[in-house]
Amino acid sequence: MAGDKRTTTFTFLAEPGDVNFGGKVHGGAVMKWIDQVAYACASAWSRRYCVTIYVGGIRFFKPIQIGHTVKLEATVIYTGSSSMHISVDVWSGPLWEDDLVKNTHCIIIFVALDQDGNKVDVPKWVPETEEDKALYDYALRLMERRKLIEDEMLPYLMN
Ligand SMILES: CC(C)(COP(=O)(O)OP(=O)(O)OC[C@H]1O[C@@H](n2cnc3c(N)ncnc32)[C@H](O)[C@@H]1OP(=O)(O)O)[C@@H](O)C(=O)NCCC(=O)NCCS
Repeated sequence: MAGDKRTTTFTFLAEPGDVNFGGKVHGGAVMKWIDQVAYACASAWSRRYCVTIYVGGIRFFKPIQIGHTVKLEATVIYTGSSSMHISVDVWSGPLWEDDLVKNTHCIIIFVALDQDGNKVDVPKWVPETEEDKALYDYALRLMERRKLIEDEMLPYLMN
């Protein structure tokens, strides 16, 4: 049912085909995985086809090694009318380690579309726990800061 699945997790191995020119996982591969897990999360929440409308700053803290476990977790932390703000965390580590290290975190925003490609309302997410309220407030604060960044970037966004 729409609005009953808030978190989506992917766990897999970083494969040789994901390599960059330095022998570690390619940043572009990680960005693709982030987009995919967030897409799956947004689609599961809304039970709709969804498109990426915004990706927040991605800072890679640590490289991911080929052959290591990669885990991505995507969670809805804010819903507007048609938009869903998804928090994505990425961890990785050797198969034989229980504890994975965090490689990056970002916020990615999806909009749900109907069959004609028009935006459509999504189920509202209401935070209940203290942890969820903190994430909701985090999403609100980022929205404010994003406006400032977009104003700054405006001259470069136009043709
Ligand atoms: C998704 C799309 C149909 C939305 O149409 P639109 O006319 O731009 O719609 P709006 O400006 O009303 O924005 C829709 C929602 O996105 C949100 N949004 C718009 N710009 C945003 C931004 N820069 N950051 C965060 N959210 C944003 C709006 O707040 C709105 O949310 P709400 O419905 O919850 O209030 C259109 O932007 C589109 O097709 N974009 C391309 C998507 C795509 O192809 N992505 C894949 C990568 S190429």
